[in-house]
Amino acid sequence: MNNKDNIILGIESSCDDTSAAIIINGYIKSNVVANQDIHKQYGGVVPELASRAHQQNIVPVIDLAIKKAKIKKENISAIAFTYGPGLLGSLLVGVSFAKSLALSLNIPIITVNHLQAHLLSHFIKTEDYENQYPKFPFICLTVSGGHTQIILLEDYLKTKILGQTIDDAAGEAFDKAAKILGLDYPGGPLIDKYATNGDKTKFKFTFPKVMNLDYSFSGLKTQFLYFIQKETKANPDFVQENLKDICASYQNHIISYLFKNLKKALDKTKCKNIAIAGGVSANSELRKQLIKFGKDNDCKIFVPKQEYCTDNAAMIAQVGYYLFKEKQFASQSVSAIARIG
Ligand code: KG4
Ligand code: ZN
Repeated sequence: MNNKDNIILGIESSCDDTSAAIIINGYIKSNVVANQDIHKQYGGVVPELASRAHQQNIVPVIDLAIKKAKIKKENISAIAFTYGPGLLGSLLVGVSFAKSLALSLNIPIITVNHLQAHLLSHFIKTEDYENQYPKFPFICLTVSGGHTQIILLEDYLKTKILGQTIDDAAGEAFDKAAKILGLDYPGGPLIDKYATNGDKTKFKFTFPKVMNLDYSFSGLKTQFLYFIQKETKANPDFVQENLKDICASYQNHIISYLFKNLKKALDKTKCKNIAIAGGVSANSELRKQLIKFGKDNDCKIFVPKQEYCTDNAAMIAQVGYYLFKEKQFASQSVSAIARIG
């Protein structure tokens, strides 16, 4: 370790994962994530419980990230943290902790937009693995539990929203349907699992009418609820007997819908690189179909490693690394913002 090393501690606490990561001279050295199982029994994230769990987790998570990176806290050059968007109580835990730790170490702080971080998760580097990185300009489809956006990236910190959801996010469409089916939270990974051997053409759903490249998922959730209610009225064992096919058909519908606008974005921008980010990009069928989509459209596809798809602090430290080089530091008066833009 020498004084010239650029060591960034990243902290993420915007929803229900407490995470800390260390990036040294642009290379990821540790990425610790503590998931909060407490929400499973409620079928969704309970904000008050999330912020309490962040308070319990934040010290051990940061401590472990520092230990795993084989550094001392006194070596850290700057602290980057998510200031929004997200749950206010959860964000406040990370923001206050980051500010006080930076104050005690006398180092600068860097504020990171959570969505910007998902976009730049593609550029996380490990020393032992040479990644392929998307070339600018490229399109990124961010699909998470809170957001669904199609973004044009012209440079690391230069982005333009081409389209986004006007109501629910794609992840919510997965989670809410899973809840209707009686599955645990978060339902996305479970729908993915049950869909593996299901017939994706068995049940049909309709697409909403939304302008431009925007999305809407709230109608789909209602459509799904009415479909299940109607079928279980006729056959009380309908869900049990058809779970795999229901999951496969519903998942396939969401993917087709996501790709519909992605194709329009491609035609509009003429980009030849497509990336995906956010929790839903962990979906196995989405990844499979994206490869075909890339071939059909003569585009290169970029999917982050599974651990960088869902919420993590490595992506926060990654944005912190770029902003540190630009000396874009925040003042100690900065606070958390639940909604940005
Ligand atoms: O990015 P993320 O960890 O948190 C937010 O910023 O929202 O995304 C969480 C979302 C949840 O809705 C979860 O159900 C979904 O990502 N998800 C999946 C899969 N893994 C996570 N959805 C579908 N298939 C998956 N394999
Ligand atoms: Zn996220």
